[in-house]
Amino acid sequence: MRALVQENVLSAADLILPLFVKDGHNSRDPISSMPGVERLSIDLVVVAAQEAFDLGIPAVCLFPYTLDHLRTLDCAEAWNPDNLSNRAVRAIKAAVPGLLVMTDVALDPYNALGHDGLVQEGIILNDETVAALVKMALAQAAAGADILGPSDMMDGRIGAIRAALEEHGFKDVAILSYSAKYASGFYGPFRDAVGASGALVGDKKTYQMNPANADEALRLVERDLAEGADMVMVKPGLAYLDICYRVKQAFGAPTFAYQVSGEYAMIEGAARNGWIDGDKVMMESLMAFKRAGCDGILTYFALRAARLLQHKD
Ligand code: PBG
Repeated sequence: MRALVQENVLSAADLILPLFVKDGHNSRDPISSMPGVERLSIDLVVVAAQEAFDLGIPAVCLFPYTLDHLRTLDCAEAWNPDNLSNRAVRAIKAAVPGLLVMTDVALDPYNALGHDGLVQEGIILNDETVAALVKMALAQAAAGADILGPSDMMDGRIGAIRAALEEHGFKDVAILSYSAKYASGFYGPFRDAVGASGALVGDKKTYQMNPANADEALRLVERDLAEGADMVMVKPGLAYLDICYRVKQAFGAPTFAYQVSGEYAMIEGAARNGWIDGDKVMMESLMAFKRAGCDGILTYFALRAARLLQHKD
């Protein structure tokens, strides 16, 4: 009877698996602030991608761990056709063509100052950054990315990327915009994972949102949809379920939440200490996103949740 009247369903098809890519071969590094998550060399990323596909997860999202000497002020490695992320895209698409590959459009993995945008005398240069992001997006599309995820929060980047994709014949590449991305403490472990913690000078408050604001999130989503975003995202997830709910109610667009690194770390850390039942809290938190109206969730739990869902069938 309980199953018969259940309102929301979580399935592997709702999940996107973020993967951290590093150089090397057959090499994996643990990330201490994200127990259970590792940086993987491209050959191992391909194995993880195949496992995700076999479990019914439709997409993976790549984040590169860039070598120090490739982090510069001009961020030129971001649009190198053979950078780590683009090589990983090609490898995954060759091995698992049915799996969607999403990429991150932001300069922080390549920026000596750790920011998502170009910096001049402590100021983020919005329009110059947008021009750089367009180059980066085109290189990712050329590598075979199916979904571009601009996570930088510059103004006008969705319209500029969409126009460039059209102009260069990438008609089928989708944009999942990080539309409502907050300046959050929950990103800490991610910055360790991509090696940006040490680099970041200052904070990201001039381009990421104030956690006190909600109406602004609706304006940003509306703008990104008008500029050509196919899907939108709220980030972080659990602390912003009200935003997820309002965005879905207001626009009915494909809406995603990013259950970010700090959320993963809190659940996993408590579970490893025996303080909570990790699997139970993982599934409960993922269902909360569905209940709030999200169509899908980016989560480091994707493989584990999909395995658990499979065993329940
Ligand atoms: C940066 C980016 C961040 C995340 C994804 N892309 C961190 C930041 O904005 O500093 C965070 C993801 C996570 O915490 O899991 N472009």
